[in-house]
Amino acid sequence: MRRFLKWFGIIAGGLLGVFIVLLVVLFFVGSRKVDRTYDVQIASVAVPTDAASIARGKHYVEAIGVCQVCHGQDLAGPVVDDCKNDPCTGFSNDPIFGKLMPNNLTSGRGGTGSVFTDADYVRAIRHGIGRDNKSLLIMPSEQYNKISDEDLGAMIAYLKTLDPVDNELGESNLGPLGRVIAVIAGGLLPASQIDHSAARAPSPVVGVSVEYGGYLAEVCTICHGDGLTGSKVPGNERVDALNITLDGPLGDWTKSQFINTIRSGITPQGDLLDPRFMPWNRFTRMTDDELDAIWLYIQSLPGG
Ligand code: HEC
Ligand code: HEC
Repeated sequence: MRRFLKWFGIIAGGLLGVFIVLLVVLFFVGSRKVDRTYDVQIASVAVPTDAASIARGKHYVEAIGVCQVCHGQDLAGPVVDDCKNDPCTGFSNDPIFGKLMPNNLTSGRGGTGSVFTDADYVRAIRHGIGRDNKSLLIMPSEQYNKISDEDLGAMIAYLKTLDPVDNELGESNLGPLGRVIAVIAGGLLPASQIDHSAARAPSPVVGVSVEYGGYLAEVCTICHGDGLTGSKVPGNERVDALNITLDGPLGDWTKSQFINTIRSGITPQGDLLDPRFMPWNRFTRMTDDELDAIWLYIQSLPGG
C-alpha cells in the first residue's frame, strides 16, 4: 500500500508538473501573439464632410455596425460601474483574464476623437491595429475589414461629429488567463485573423440583393459565426448566438416573421431576444430594404 501511494504521488506530481510547464509555455506563446507588431500599409480613405455622408455614417454606426453595443450609447465607452451588475459586451475588468475596454470614441477626455487621425481610424476599424501597431483586443475588425471605402469614410466623418464626453478608461490588456486563451481564440486578437494585404472587393451596389445582404450580414457573423451557423457572443462566451441559416429555426419562418423579429425582438415562437446579447434594438433602425436584402442572403446560404 505504501509503495502504491508513493508511486501514485510521483505520477500525480509528475502530471501536475507537466501541466504547469504547459501553462507556462502557453502563456509565453500567447504573450508573443499579444505583443506582435503589425507593419501594415494603411490605404487612405476619403473622409467626406457633407451632411448626407455624415448621416450615412451615423446610420452605419447605429443600425448596421452596431458599435454602441460595446462602445456605449453615446460611443463614449462603457460606464464601468454599470458593467459590474449588467455585463457589457466586449468589456472585462479582471486581472486574471484581462482588461477589455471598448474605447471612448468621442473627443472628450480619454477619447480617440482628440488624438486620432483618419489613418488611425482606418488602422483600428479595418485592420484591428492600434496606434502602437499591436492588435486591438476583441474589436471585431475581422468583420469590419469588409466595410467599403464609402461606408468607412462616412463612418469616420460621423465619429468626428460626436459630442465630446469625458470618460477615461485606461488601456486594455490581457492578463495571464487571457494570454493562454489567446493562443487558440483568434477573435481575441483580430489583427491576427486578417489578411492585411488582400485586394479589396469592389464596393457593393446598394439594393435588395443577395450580394448587398451578404455585405450587411457580415456584422451578424460577429456573433452568429462564419456562414451564420452559430457561435458565441464575443466577450460573453457563455452566451450562444444560434444558427440563423435555414437549417435552424429560421427554416420555418416567413420573411415577415424575420422582419418582425428584428423590429420587435420577439420571435414567432414568442421568445423575447435579450438586447444585451442580440442587438435587435439597434438593427431595428435598418431600413426595410436592408432587412429584405439580409433575408434574401439568408435564403441563399447552404442548407436553405
Ligand atoms: C464586440 C465589441 C465591439 C464592437 C461591436 C465594436 N468595438 Fe471598437 N473596440 C472594442 C474594444 C474592446 C476596443 C479596445 C481594444 C484595445 O484597446 O485593445 C475597441 C477599440 C476601438 C477603437 C480604438 C482603437 C485604439 O487604438 O484606441 C476604435 C476607433 C473603434 N473601436 C471603433 C469601433 C467602431 C467604429 C465600431 C462599429 C463599426 C466598433 N468599434 C465596434 C470593442 C468593440
Ligand atoms: C452581438 C452579438 C450578435 C449580433 C451582432 C447578432 N446577433 Fe442575432 N442573436 C444573438 C444572440 C445571443 C441570440 C440569442 C438571443 C436570445 O436568445 O436572447 C440571437 C438571436 C437571433 C435570432 C433569433 C433566432 C431564434 O431562433 O430565436 C435572429 C433571427 C437573429 N439573431 C438574427 C441576427 C441578424 C440578422 C443579425 C445581423 C443583422 C444578428 N442576429 C446579429 C447575438 C447577436
